Amino acid sequence: MQDGVVTLDHKSVYRPSEEVIARARIKDWDALSAYAAENPLAFWAERAEELEWFKRWDQVLDDSNKPFFKWFVGGKFNIVHNALDRHLTTWRRNKVAYIWQGEDFSERMIAYGELHREVSKFANVLKSLGVQKGDRVTIYMGRVIELPVAMLACARIGAVHSVVYGGFSVEALRGRIADSQSKIVVTCDGAYVNGKVVELKQIVDDALKPGDLPVEKVIVYRRTGREIGWVEGRDHWWHDLMAQASPNCPVEVMDAEDPLFILYTSGSTGKPKALLHTHGGYAVYTYTTLRYVFDVQDEDRYWCAADPGWITGHSYIVYAPLMNGVTSIMYEGGPSYPAPDRWWSIVEQYRVSILYCAPTAIRGFMRFGEEWPRKHDMSSLRLLGSVGEPINPEAWLWFYHNVGGGRCPIMDTWWQTETGGFMITPLPVVPLKPGSATRPFFGIKAEVVDDAGNPVKPNEEGYLTITVPWPGMARTIYGDPDRYVQTYWARYPGRYFTGDSARVDEDGYFWIIGRVDDVLKVSGYRLGTAEVESALVSHPAVAEAAAIGLPHEVRGNAIYTYVILRAGYEGTPELAEELRQHVAKVMGPIARPERVEFVTRLPKTRSGKIMRRVLKARALGLPEGDLTTLEE
Ligand code: WTA
Repeated sequence: MQDGVVTLDHKSVYRPSEEVIARARIKDWDALSAYAAENPLAFWAERAEELEWFKRWDQVLDDSNKPFFKWFVGGKFNIVHNALDRHLTTWRRNKVAYIWQGEDFSERMIAYGELHREVSKFANVLKSLGVQKGDRVTIYMGRVIELPVAMLACARIGAVHSVVYGGFSVEALRGRIADSQSKIVVTCDGAYVNGKVVELKQIVDDALKPGDLPVEKVIVYRRTGREIGWVEGRDHWWHDLMAQASPNCPVEVMDAEDPLFILYTSGSTGKPKALLHTHGGYAVYTYTTLRYVFDVQDEDRYWCAADPGWITGHSYIVYAPLMNGVTSIMYEGGPSYPAPDRWWSIVEQYRVSILYCAPTAIRGFMRFGEEWPRKHDMSSLRLLGSVGEPINPEAWLWFYHNVGGGRCPIMDTWWQTETGGFMITPLPVVPLKPGSATRPFFGIKAEVVDDAGNPVKPNEEGYLTITVPWPGMARTIYGDPDRYVQTYWARYPGRYFTGDSARVDEDGYFWIIGRVDDVLKVSGYRLGTAEVESALVSHPAVAEAAAIGLPHEVRGNAIYTYVILRAGYEGTPELAEELRQHVAKVMGPIARPERVEFVTRLPKTRSGKIMRRVLKARALGLPEGDLTTLEE
């Protein structure tokens, strides 16, 4: 590898400065990597020892029932004890856990001690409403501090939270409540995003309207103060319930393998999968990865700009930062509201030292131009991070120079809802190549294979697989263990199949190419083509629909749809627009198709499966590939 600091050639290698190396917690990547590769169980047990256990585990890994691996078997634990209670006996009791800024510029700060009190009170609220260990609670809120409070309160008493991203709409929420059989929904009267109010409570009311879901109580946090609908007996104000709740609530002693949360994510069928994570292994994995990769220190001000409703927020806004005792920034609203320097003003105002975000955000900022970051003093930044989709070298370099001042290494972290935490990622001391997530984390082994499961040669494209278990892995799909096996473990026996394609270069650096299944990444959000299709088909005019992703400059992918109309409907531009809005209303604005095209036929296999790759090739003017299975 040749040296090539601060040049605009994206083939260069960006080596850490002396200063970065001097302050890095892990200085010798190679030595620790070799140690963890040879002694993975010892490595993970040592990490687990950094956390507090009510009872130590008997066995680090139980792999007797593959692929249902168990970690820290016999251990008694609660992640919330480690995120909150553990800090109360130290000076961190008075340390700020979250600095929050509303889109309206209002500001709140909450210390660890106070957060512990709020969480304990809300845990008592949940208990008083009959929530018990193992019960599911759906959380559908805007980006307010009460969202982590609700999550932590569930975990404190052993209830299983199911957070639904606030950008999803009626049908997506409804399906997730139905699948999880939640008796309680926690929401807000609304959320501020881009100067508008998202009517969260209204969406909850619409989702529950048919009256066939088991929801008994809806708890509403007041954020906007706007008029909302109210169902007497079912709906309760957060502040009313909290006013009566006691701040004393002992942590439930959980088994390491007890469920912590479920989080729905899109797969290749219309029904989203509920990935299940557990208290012990997930805690050890997220705690360790944040500590090593973002190298968090007590003096840092760390800002993960994701939404808590996605896995990035679960792991790296809520659990890992709190377990590490970090001060986090949380910002409620849109990135360029009211002006394209909103984020940079937050970095300057709070002296943010670590900023972790998605390539789509960076590409969006690139379009507004360098003058916006230049207005602000961002010298407090020392590390940057990227997640959610491959970062194109142009965006990497823009981020590196215009945000990081050419001084801050970029941690391009590859991982998934299923993996719980970072899997392929640099550390501050690792030399970087723009666009590569570099190498597997300590204790992780990744391999790129061909169709038959044989490792491919360097620089050849193939399927990304993981060949070892790790503590943060999802344990199953809630309610559907067969689907868990089928989706992730059946294609290449003995390997976890990621659904991504990748290549590995001559230095062992991984380059993620993208999804190979029917999952789309739109602005970093994970959506299934099948979900978009079923939203379209729910409109009376639509007989059949197909959705594909085509490259988009800012969003990474944009959704293109092909629709066959029912007899009697005419494919007018007005109807196309109506269908776009229909998808946004049913699934959420993030799923609104870029384009709806009316067709009379769709390419299908003889067994009736839509061949989306053929649609995609046609749209891009590329060769259509093997058509032997095409029906017509
Ligand atoms: C993609 C998000 C390239 C990938 C944490 C993966 C990435 C999917 C990266 C998981 C990255 C995530 N480089 N691609 N650094 N990070 N991806 O479940 O396709 O929302 O399979 O988890 O995002 O998306 P999910």
